Amino acid sequence: MRALGLASLLSLSASAQEPADLARGRTVYRDACETCHGRDGDGRGPSARELDPKPRNFVSGSFKFRSTESGERPLLDDVVRTVSTGIRGTWMPSFEKLMSPADLRAVSGYVLAFGPKGEVPERLVPASAELTVLPDSPAMRERGRALYESLKCGQCHGPEGRGDGPAASTAKNDLGEVTPPLDFTIGLYKGGSTPADVYRTFVTGLDGTPMPSYGDSLPKEEDRWALVHYVRSLSRSPGFFRWLFGPRTPWE
Ligand code: HEC
Ligand code: HEC
Repeated sequence: MRALGLASLLSLSASAQEPADLARGRTVYRDACETCHGRDGDGRGPSARELDPKPRNFVSGSFKFRSTESGERPLLDDVVRTVSTGIRGTWMPSFEKLMSPADLRAVSGYVLAFGPKGEVPERLVPASAELTVLPDSPAMRERGRALYESLKCGQCHGPEGRGDGPAASTAKNDLGEVTPPLDFTIGLYKGGSTPADVYRTFVTGLDGTPMPSYGDSLPKEEDRWALVHYVRSLSRSPGFFRWLFGPRTPWE
């Protein structure tokens, strides 16, 4: 295969990036990410050994939080969102207050350039701002509850969403780490907790984990939002979490 320069690698994976951003991305990466994700992006930085779950191996190209089809690479915007917000309940920090928007984009493009190359994948779920959230209501939650049962989400997440379904104890990710299904009553979502975030999570699934993609089994918008509202309604004690995490609780 013809050797590609760094600039062209980047333009393949993230067309919006200017070549100059890659050098910037590398500087930011070495400063802020390398200790966990490794100089070569293989997830084996010096700090990785202690961590569970392990930092992502970017070379594999398998990402949990995507707006794209299961098995596809994420969009640049997906990576920017993850790096900005961090991943709750793991060692992946939030960088939005630590770097400029330009640096966030540059380092996200650099991360994507470690992975497989090719066309920018197709967007499956519209950007959060462009999604039309169908309103929550008792009827929607009831519809969501019925879907939760018929789609057997409870096999993993438990009949009442406590993360204690019959398949929960055997849930493992690609690295063989135990990956508990989310306990919806705690409501601390890794991929974001707004209705649009939860919608994206179960439409696209979380690659590398047992959490499947439900885009095909739920073609109707109304069903998708019904499930979002039902699942979010299972979270308890928002007051406590507001106290713990400040004004930006997981429900906002
Ligand atoms: C203290 C360790 C640590 C540092 C520093 C760190 N990360 Fe992570 N990162 C993690 C861990 C752990 C995960 C895996 C979390 C999981 O699997 O739920 C992760 C996951 C990710 C993911 C994967 C998201 C997905 O969709 O699967 C991206 C992208 C990412 N990190 C980017 C970065 C970038 C960019 C930086 C630097 C600006 C950075 N990380 C710094 C620990 C770290
Ligand atoms: C085969 C087991 C399994 C089934 C079935 C399943 N899930 Fe999951 N789900 C998981 C696992 C495991 C995780 C946690 C992955 C992680 O933390 O990396 C998860 C996480 C989630 C998350 C949270 C992601 C986040 O941001 O933290 C949502 C929302 C979710 N599932 C919704 C659903 C819904 C709705 C259904 C049914 C339509 C469903 N799941 C069916 C295993 C499953």
